[in-house]
Amino acid sequence: MKIKDFKLEEFFAIHEFSAPYLLCTSDCETFSIEELLALESDSEKELKKLRLGYTESLGSPFLRKEISYLYENIDLEDVIVFSGAEEGIFIFMNCLLEKGDHIIIQFPAYQSLYEIANSIGCEACKWMMSDKNQSWELDINFLRDNIKSNTKAIIINNPHNPTGHLISKEQFNEIIEIASEKNIHIFSDEVYRFMEYDENKRHPAMCDLYDKGISLGVMSKTFGLAGLRVGWIATKDKNLFKQIASFKNYTTICNSAPSEFLSILALKNKEFIIKRNLNIIKNNLKLLDEFFEKYKHLFDWLRPKAGSIAFPKIKFEKNIEEFCIDLLDKKGVLLMPSTKFDFGDKHFRIGFGRKNMPDALKKLEEYIQEFIK
Ligand SMILES: Cc1ncc(COP(=O)(O)O)c(C=O)c1O
Repeated sequence: MKIKDFKLEEFFAIHEFSAPYLLCTSDCETFSIEELLALESDSEKELKKLRLGYTESLGSPFLRKEISYLYENIDLEDVIVFSGAEEGIFIFMNCLLEKGDHIIIQFPAYQSLYEIANSIGCEACKWMMSDKNQSWELDINFLRDNIKSNTKAIIINNPHNPTGHLISKEQFNEIIEIASEKNIHIFSDEVYRFMEYDENKRHPAMCDLYDKGISLGVMSKTFGLAGLRVGWIATKDKNLFKQIASFKNYTTICNSAPSEFLSILALKNKEFIIKRNLNIIKNNLKLLDEFFEKYKHLFDWLRPKAGSIAFPKIKFEKNIEEFCIDLLDKKGVLLMPSTKFDFGDKHFRIGFGRKNMPDALKKLEEYIQEFIK
């Protein structure tokens, strides 16, 4: 299998652990093991007693039960746990898709959501988002018009990386209607779920609404626990579930026991963790609103509706990659250029889920005052 370089992850591999100010990460502020263990008495004692043999290949039943509580109509039998969301994407694509199949993918997108399909020999049709009216939009007619007889899946990411867009409930239901008419699977990457700024705008998960719907979740983003490498798929499609479970024996077989333990602990305390991280996001968003208001002659803000990232646009005459690299050289601030999303050269991803975002933003402002007029 030949696969193209993962542009965003390669960029992070070079800069993420050396750049002094990370201003484009998508995960929320993390926790130490000590902080997690402090959430429940006895948990430290239990962790010390944990035995480090193989674990159950679908994931610990206790963990799968906790994950099922994130959904309305899902039970632990509908949940399979992976090493990160990334393994879930890889296995899903390999189980459902064959050479010559067609998929429709909301675009821009996290690259694995279409590149794995490409590597299998599928045709990935880009369902382009538009920012023409100063906010991100998706044209549902494009989806309707581009379904083919060999369309196997619609891939959406909601809330969305990199724009922070949230598909409206009406559009969400229309997507399901279109897919169900043609018996097409919907793979819904929901790794930023529970970070909606207005809780009333949160959708039910795809797996709760559609029997050919697959919801992807993870501990990395909302919960800030990317180092656990725990992600999952929830689906009512029993046949697909069986294939996915069987494929996992060729990737990781089972999950890390300490990561499962700590994920259970975090999910039992999900209200606390989500509230802490949403507070950080909302405080940082206020600063970003002020910043982009002050510099509105230089940027289109394109305010996000959910999540810890946004995808603003520069108005000045510079290639975005040059801008990001010069900013990194001069002030040590890392932004993600839109070229890493194959989405032109005028946008950049900004991340605001971390506590030290205000320091990074100050450095960006210094750069703008010194080098962009
Ligand atoms: C939309 C989306 N899906 C999946 C992933 C992969 O998540 P993980 O690194 O936790 O496996 C990411 C990570 O950035 C993402 O943004």
